[in-house]
Amino acid sequence: MTDNRNLTDSILSLKEQRKAIILAHNYQRGEVQDMADFVGDSLQLSQQAAKTDAGVIVFCGVNFMAETAYILCPDKVVLLPDANAGCPMADMITAAKLKEKKRELPNAEVVCYVNSSADVKAESDICCTSANAVRVIESLESKEILFIPDHYLGQYVSTQTDKKIHLWPGYCPTHMKILPEHITELRKKYPRARVVVHPECRPDVIALADKALSTGGMIRYARENDFDQMIVGTEIGILHRLKKDNPDKEFIPASNKAVCPNMKLITLEKVLWALEEMAPEVRVPEETRLRAKAAVDRMLQVS
Ligand code: 13P
Ligand code: SF4
Repeated sequence: MTDNRNLTDSILSLKEQRKAIILAHNYQRGEVQDMADFVGDSLQLSQQAAKTDAGVIVFCGVNFMAETAYILCPDKVVLLPDANAGCPMADMITAAKLKEKKRELPNAEVVCYVNSSADVKAESDICCTSANAVRVIESLESKEILFIPDHYLGQYVSTQTDKKIHLWPGYCPTHMKILPEHITELRKKYPRARVVVHPECRPDVIALADKALSTGGMIRYARENDFDQMIVGTEIGILHRLKKDNPDKEFIPASNKAVCPNMKLITLEKVLWALEEMAPEVRVPEETRLRAKAAVDRMLQVS
């Protein structure tokens, strides 16, 4: 505790000197969330990155999130405190494979979940997050969509629209750990509880839930609704914020195995080192950045 306090104090004073802002995803370690300037979901973090006037963004999240911040703000230094913090789902598609698929489906517009590399975004028509995927798809002229790379989010979205959605076989290994039997057992144990899951979960898990929401949507739902227990089907880092915001409510993880090892690579020590050394820096080649930015900007206009 004292160590965390000391580290946080050192980070905050160096942050002032560097004129930096610290953004953290809802799955980050509790102590990292507590020291950040802003904590949110992927969409909210992109929006914060787009509007900040800080010269340095320390991104406590995974690589695709830091890349998105750089895509939006190339004049800023974007730091990812552990360069190994990737997203296995984002690695399940490459620009070359996407180009091949586009040739097979010439009439489909490509909607790319932000959990993807800048190269893949650059080959896409528009990005989306789990918070705005349905709105994004409905905003498009085309009746035919190629949704990449998350099969399960794509599948969920296809239940909310009349458009023809072609899916890509990507998935999140962390959300795959949440099984329907977890929800069924917890419902028996906590019959009054609301069940809220992330749309990256399997369809048979989503079918058992009261709501499928982005992490930001879950935070809002918990704050705005009157209940005393909530079963939470997503990465367990979100419980920190849920409990902090709602001390009178009880939050039960659908599975304690739903831990994203990449999100957990970011620690207070690494945030401090990143600010000391101004590294590791995330950048994207300019030609790719401009094409990826068109897809991200188009999403932000819809959101
Ligand atoms: P959110 O956009 O809902 O925060 O989700 C990001 C993510 O990586 C989920 O696994
Ligand atoms: Fe990627 Fe899943 Fe981790 Fe989100 S929780 S960053 S989708 S591996």
